[in-house]
Amino acid sequence: MELLIFKLFYMVRNYFRVLIVLLAVVIFYGCEKKTIDFGTTVKPRNASTDTVHFATQIIPIFTSNCNGCHNSQTPILEPSVAYANLTSGGYYNVSSPAESKIYVKLNSTSSTHASKSTPAQQDLILQWITQGAKNN
Ligand code: HEC
Repeated sequence: MELLIFKLFYMVRNYFRVLIVLLAVVIFYGCEKKTIDFGTTVKPRNASTDTVHFATQIIPIFTSNCNGCHNSQTPILEPSVAYANLTSGGYYNVSSPAESKIYVKLNSTSSTHASKSTPAQQDLILQWITQGAKNN
């Protein structure tokens, strides 16, 4: 009788062990799956491929957000000279757009430029550079 109880005890204990291992596998798999889902749902911010026009889309950003200072501060970004100054000063880099001085500046956390442009405006400028920084 005693032996039977012991046998039963060990059997139950072994079942528990199997159950715990199964549970661990389920939990682990569950977590891993969540991580993978998270990774694939994050989209790059500027996914648009629409053509960006310097004169009608970039110049207005300079006029509304920059020229309070950049009418006297280099680079001068007044409409008639903005393109020439950005080009001669090497402020954009078409082979490595995200490293362009102008883009890096707008994304900097320094007090002069943090919040001087919106993420959408930054995306537009980056997109314009990615498309070859044309005077279009
Ligand atoms: C409140 C005034 C102010 C505003 C607004 C401002 N800037 Fe500036 N900017 C400065 C000053 C001052 C400097 C020089 C010091 C520095 O680099 O932070 C500068 C420097 C820069 C530089 C680097 C110049 C160099 O030769 O290294 C770039 C590029 C630039 N600004 C672009 C912009 C653009 C584009 C905007 C608009 C979205 C803008 N800034 C808005 C004041 C301003």
